[in-house]
Amino acid sequence: MQILSFFALPSLLACGVAAVPSQQQAELAFDALQGWYNESIGLWIPSTGWWNSANCLTVIADLAEINPDVATKAEAIYPNTWSNAQDYNLQLQKTVAAPEFLMQSQHGGNLPKHKTTGFLNNYYDDEGWWALAWIAVYDVTGDRKYLRTAESIFDDMAKAYGTTPCGGLWWSKDRTYVNAIANELFLDVAAHLANRAGAKKSYYLDFAKKEWAWFKQSGMINSQNLINDGLDNATCQNNGGTVWSYNQGVVLGGLTELSRATGDDSYVVKGKLIADAAIQNLTDSNGILHDPCEPDCGADGSQFKGVFARNLQILQQYSPEPRYATFLEKNANSIWKYDRSRRGNKLSLIWSGPFVKPANASTQSSAMDVLVAALATQ
Ligand SMILES: *[C@@H]1O[C@H](CO)[C@@H](O)[C@H](O)[C@H]1NC(C)=O
Ligand SMILES: *[C@@H]1O[C@H](CO)[C@@H](O)[C@H](O)[C@H]1NC(C)=O
Ligand SMILES: *[C@@H]1O[C@H](CO)[C@@H](O)[C@H](O)[C@H]1NC(C)=O
Ligand SMILES: *[C@@H]1O[C@H](CO)[C@@H](O)[C@H](O)[C@H]1NC(C)=O
Repeated sequence: MQILSFFALPSLLACGVAAVPSQQQAELAFDALQGWYNESIGLWIPSTGWWNSANCLTVIADLAEINPDVATKAEAIYPNTWSNAQDYNLQLQKTVAAPEFLMQSQHGGNLPKHKTTGFLNNYYDDEGWWALAWIAVYDVTGDRKYLRTAESIFDDMAKAYGTTPCGGLWWSKDRTYVNAIANELFLDVAAHLANRAGAKKSYYLDFAKKEWAWFKQSGMINSQNLINDGLDNATCQNNGGTVWSYNQGVVLGGLTELSRATGDDSYVVKGKLIADAAIQNLTDSNGILHDPCEPDCGADGSQFKGVFARNLQILQQYSPEPRYATFLEKNANSIWKYDRSRRGNKLSLIWSGPFVKPANASTQSSAMDVLVAALATQ
């Protein structure tokens, strides 16, 4: 038996059971991300923006879950961001326009501290990102203060649920657009909270189920199981907007958490159809993920792909498939080999390489999502 396994080893390697970047390498990437952390305001600004900072925090918590060194280093980040970021709360204007529907944030510049609304702002998707970040921090710390923050953010989103002429949730409080991201985040936050909020489980589960029942028939999921950007203002039909990677991602986390909360696996079955369609549609011939905006994804689009990887991790941990392990491994390895700066372990926009400038907290956190997902599901 021993001799057999000795000979089996090289062929296993040849079959693609390649190592992914190590825990130490993930930690180096984390150190680089923290080079952009603005301690006094608790955000990764000016390197990236408001909602993108929530995604930076999420990937740190996710890495801390599997890496004790990072867990120790991250202990100071959570309370600092929790208290300083909500004082600062960037006043943000975002636009999105046909035909691409690539979101663009404009920050208000160096605003003085002012009376703020905590982690709430004018955009329901931004609120959803922060709710998910605090849930991730709660998961790794067990500190219920963070869970309560997520729950209170969700309450603000829930107040607007069902008030659009198309159903679902508005993108922003200006009530101009019903899109996929805000609705997927509403589903995802509700389903995450259902699995964490004890006595209030049925309250959150109800919202998650309602949102999904609406979303799946809203027309946003097209006949190829790909999710377009949103609904046409006038007709409430699929607007044919770009198939962004993050819109194929957030829904996977929501559906997995729904299966977890209900024991009904039909949600993950649908999730896998969406994940497979996305991998088919958005990868190159080497299996590396791209967004259609590359190389000009702006400050927001540069973070989309990591969101897909992070949510594929959630799906993969619940109901593993070898093809998803392969996808995460390939992308993680490609980033480390071809998309990394020669000095300082900065990770940039195009995961197949080459390294393009600038790398920043947006591209770094996004690439780290894949490293973490590959490590966590190995
Ligand atoms: C932190 O953010 C504030 C507000 O935008 C800015 O004035 C300051 O220069 C930033 N600090 C660093 C180290 O970038
Ligand atoms: C939808 O209509 C509103 C009001 O007419 C307009 O301001 C907004 O830009 C439109 N949104 C999109 C995404 O086309
Ligand atoms: C991906 O999907 C879009 C929209 O459905 C389609 O236009 C495009 O041709 C597809 N690309 C690939 C490579 O499948
Ligand atoms: C971060 O880098 C991306 C990709 O190079 C770039 O598109 C984006 O504008 C940068 N963000 C900021 C805030 O400069």
